[in-house]
Amino acid sequence: MSNTNPSFELSPLIVGMMRLGEWGVKMNTSELETFVEQCLELGLIDFDHADIYGSYSTETDFGQLLKKRPDLRSKIKITSKATVRLVSDRRPEHRINYYDSSKSHILTSLDRSLKELSTDYVDLFLIHRPDYLMNPHEVAEAFDVLKSSGKVKHFGVSNYSTSQFDLLQTYSPVPLVTNQVEVSILELGAFSDGTLDQCLKHKIIPTVWSPFGGGAIFQDTDDERVLRIRKAAGILAEKYNAQIDQILLAWILKHPSGIVPVLGTSKFSRIEKALEATKIELTHQEWYELLEASTGVRVP
Ligand SMILES: NC(=O)c1ccc[n+]([C@@H]2O[C@H](COP(=O)([O-])OP(=O)(O)OC[C@H]3O[C@@H](n4cnc5c(N)ncnc54)[C@H](OP(=O)(O)O)[C@@H]3O)[C@@H](O)[C@H]2O)c1
Repeated sequence: MSNTNPSFELSPLIVGMMRLGEWGVKMNTSELETFVEQCLELGLIDFDHADIYGSYSTETDFGQLLKKRPDLRSKIKITSKATVRLVSDRRPEHRINYYDSSKSHILTSLDRSLKELSTDYVDLFLIHRPDYLMNPHEVAEAFDVLKSSGKVKHFGVSNYSTSQFDLLQTYSPVPLVTNQVEVSILELGAFSDGTLDQCLKHKIIPTVWSPFGGGAIFQDTDDERVLRIRKAAGILAEKYNAQIDQILLAWILKHPSGIVPVLGTSKFSRIEKALEATKIELTHQEWYELLEASTGVRVP
């Protein structure tokens, strides 16, 4: 299996859209415009969407911006995702949350996303979550249609195990360029379950969501694990004249697979700080000190 795809590139950080609309700060079109322009000034041009964000409303919000500022479309890259079917007033037919990677659902969802986003293509399309009923032939057929119609430039998956990734790649007519998975100092699975090894082996770019545990690291808590992590990161923050969030991002970035974090913040100042963090190089020992703080167990 070789997924090397030299034509696929990402910014050093991806700007996540999940919390900018109805599921978070509810930016209006001009706030979104300022936010996007500020990101572009930093060279961050990748924006991560999914059909479900904001209960199927955040792509629409972004589409309002692109209607107002069609010139932005050629300056940005958009990721969208589909296959999660969420209970929502906007989808009254969904009695429960479930996953659907049928060819018809993928094609219908993507067409809907394009309409909502007010664009005729996305740069990257991800299967959002593994569907136990996935028929890889059908997904491959959907990818083929989307590629040849020009509606999708690149393809990938999210939250896939290594075997699910291998399976789909075997059938897919296009290389899978990323597996977007959860990684943070609070979510360590990808370091040991083969996910990042697979990315390294096949030159797949790992993109990682909730790099700060969805903000759990910063919230008021008496959770011992979080307190240990903050203490260890605080010591390094002093050494590097940095902030704790920058140290925790540098910790993720140290992995040799070339992780690209998907940031969830709604505050541009935090995005600026995150970009500065890409220059911090922790030592091996410091990386393991933070790992120990997370696990609460001495490295053997
Ligand atoms: N593929 C998937 O299944 C999947 C799942 C979840 C998310 N995602 C993607 O990943 C993106 C990021 O996920 P996430 O939002 O959970 O990421 P995150 O960056 O771990 O969490 C963002 C939350 O943490 C807070 N935060 C971030 N930095 C902070 C700091 N320095 N101090 C205090 N609070 C801080 C933010 O608040 P402020 O806004 O106040 O900074 C926000 O509420 C999403 O937008 C989405 O695009 C993908």
